[in-house]
Amino acid sequence: MFGTRPKLVLYVDGVALVTRMRGFGTTVFAEMSALAERTGSINLGQGFPDQDGPAEVLEAAVDAIRSGANQYPPGPGVEDLRQAVAEHQKRFYGVDCDPDGEVLVTAGATEAITAAVLALCEPGSEVVVFEPFYDSYAAAIALAGAQRRAVPLQPPDWSLDPGRLRAAVSPRTRMVILNSPHNPTGKVFSVEELDAIAEVCQERDLVAVTDEVYEHLVFDGQHVPLATREGMAERTLTVSSAAKTFSVTGWKVGWVTGPAGLVGAVRTVKQFLTYVNGAPFQPAVAAGLRLPDSFFASTAWSLRERRDQLCAGLVAAGFAVHVPAGTYFVMADTGPLGYLDGAALAREMPERCGVVAVPAAAFYSDPSAPTPLLRFTFCKQNAVLDEAVRRLQRLRR
Ligand SMILES: Cc1ncc(COP(=O)(O)O)c(C=O)c1O
Repeated sequence: MFGTRPKLVLYVDGVALVTRMRGFGTTVFAEMSALAERTGSINLGQGFPDQDGPAEVLEAAVDAIRSGANQYPPGPGVEDLRQAVAEHQKRFYGVDCDPDGEVLVTAGATEAITAAVLALCEPGSEVVVFEPFYDSYAAAIALAGAQRRAVPLQPPDWSLDPGRLRAAVSPRTRMVILNSPHNPTGKVFSVEELDAIAEVCQERDLVAVTDEVYEHLVFDGQHVPLATREGMAERTLTVSSAAKTFSVTGWKVGWVTGPAGLVGAVRTVKQFLTYVNGAPFQPAVAAGLRLPDSFFASTAWSLRERRDQLCAGLVAAGFAVHVPAGTYFVMADTGPLGYLDGAALAREMPERCGVVAVPAAAFYSDPSAPTPLLRFTFCKQNAVLDEAVRRLQRLRR
């Protein structure tokens, strides 16, 4: 009879998904962007650029729409993009991958990572992440019913202690998720650190999922994919995305490369998450990946200049910063200004100075533990950054 049916609840292995996902409400990024909008503040919180990406990439998407690329693309992604991803891996890292079977196009890096966790972890599996960590990892792990094991990166330089990594691994550990260049710290993992991670993965038979969405936003040093380190190609899923490289965060076109067995497992899950995505954007991203070296160099160079501008401005305003080697984020310590709780300050900032930043607490296992750190983005125009640092001077007490 109508009215007597039980409410629909999703159960996985005896635990309702809604319960498992408790605490994963609106992301703090969306919350801070809404706050910026509401208060008319400068938004240095969420990481999206305020300028369009390369014209030829945008034009290629328009052309694709006009020429009818508007229906479901093939499940693994359009052939041209899979080919372009394979060419890109060879050109930048000397890695060979077969566009048929070793490359999968996904709805952004987010889907690739979530699908990898869902594909390879069981309820009760453990997944190692480096803390602070990008928020979607925790949600993906919770969705899979797996457990998160966080290994701290030590401020101010966010170094990794391999002993802590070893200690975090148990017989239930299945996977390590590595993000380099790293959001929110801007750290680029060194070759020594990558080798320490590789050693643990091989010793303990772990799969590595590497989130490399900032691979082309590196200013100091070099980005080295974990998959290129000895013994890692066969156990690594390498994930990246068009979002940051081509300033198209709204397109949600990402990809994963790796051994056919692992990529196939991700594809099995992707089929039932989104099936396919972004048909007209896929050829456009292929065009982007084939842009000359000068494009990739100038993107990094322009961001490097803005990194220096924002870091200098933050220091002048009284923050302590550890200058990031990559990404478009900088972590700023509010301690020298006399604040202990970054989250509380972040909520007051629109009112006090008309600037929005993201509290670093959002990247920690316990977001309620106070940390004086704030994350600012510098993927904004010079004039916007100038005005933001001018306003931040008002935080001095
Ligand atoms: C570390 C990291 N991974 C993944 C993403 C999301 O990538 P995409 O938009 O391709 O899903 C972001 C976006 O901010 C990010 O910072």
